[in-house]
Amino acid sequence: MKVNQFISDDDEINIRKELEVARSLPAICYTSQEFFSLEEKYVFQKNWLCVGRESQIPNNGDYFTIDILSDPLVIVRGKDNVIRALSRVCKHRWMELVAGKGNTSSFKCPYHEWMYDLAGKLKAAPSMDIEKFDKSKCNLPSLRVEIWQGFIFVNYDDQAISLDQSLSGLNKKLEGYQLSEMISVDPIVYESDWNWKVMVENASEVYHLGLHKNTLISSLPTKSSIIEDNDGPYSFYRIPNKDREPLLTSFTPPNTLNKDQLSEFVLCNVFPHHIMIINPDQMTWIQILPRSATSHTLLFHLCFHPSAFRDKAFFQKEKQSKWFLQQIHDEDIFACQSVQKGLFSRYALPTSFSYLEKSIWQFHNWVLDQFKQVG
Ligand code: FES
Ligand SMILES: [Fe+2]
Repeated sequence: MKVNQFISDDDEINIRKELEVARSLPAICYTSQEFFSLEEKYVFQKNWLCVGRESQIPNNGDYFTIDILSDPLVIVRGKDNVIRALSRVCKHRWMELVAGKGNTSSFKCPYHEWMYDLAGKLKAAPSMDIEKFDKSKCNLPSLRVEIWQGFIFVNYDDQAISLDQSLSGLNKKLEGYQLSEMISVDPIVYESDWNWKVMVENASEVYHLGLHKNTLISSLPTKSSIIEDNDGPYSFYRIPNKDREPLLTSFTPPNTLNKDQLSEFVLCNVFPHHIMIINPDQMTWIQILPRSATSHTLLFHLCFHPSAFRDKAFFQKEKQSKWFLQQIHDEDIFACQSVQKGLFSRYALPTSFSYLEKSIWQFHNWVLDQFKQVG
């Protein structure tokens, strides 16, 4: 299966055009399981994928599990304080070693009790012939890990350029927000029956604010949004408040933010699918875990600065923020499900973009790059 069976030469020319005359990816890229398999190989096995926040595993021995496509992983902070991403499939007969989250000093398989240390090294294999059995060949495979702004990213590709290096331009734009310090709370989880890119695109623009007219009664003049040129695998979308008035906040924002940052919120995507909605006092991190061409698990993680947890009304405010997110997402579910149905239509042709969808145009060009880099 080759990518030009899905994206023709003409499609490519149109995606590469300047925003005003460009066209989107073809609809089949959102519906085909074969195209999804290509994405698995060229997008998800080559790029940095966010699995969680450092703050989820603060102590040595803390771990949580996550499935990336068909790979069950465990993310663990070792006794040496290093965070590792290990396969959690036992090297004996493939049972999952561990589930959920917790704290441990080793991973012992429930099936035949092979035991691994927190770096994935096989330490014990009962009743195996020690003469003929080479324990050193049975360590758990590990992925590359990089911490960026407090997020834990993993990469299957040993050759991939460092995430921090590829995001040096974005790092400058995020200065002052102190994202590394933020702590995430339990997420809101949805099993979602639409393509992962439909979700990325929904969360990448404020062109669709009319959809939320009953929930987002906002003074934000979204038409004056600024979508910056990018110099790496990201988009950065600034939505300033009316007359640059400071935004209303639930908690005190960090004193490192400048006047512009205090009067705007930001939609920021790290491609392929790491999304942050950044307000002066809090951040919503949207985690998308693709499962098939037409499904993914979607998690909304609210993240707060440590000082917010000292606010007496924290739990009430957190509850309120979660409720508000759910109301907005209910409206987005309605749109995304309908878009997915529309994408199966024979009349769903590549579309044109508004200037308020520049972030999607940047994303489509990046997706195309992933296939073109490998020829
Ligand atoms: S499957 Fe894990 S010890 Fe047998
Ligand atoms: Fe929306």
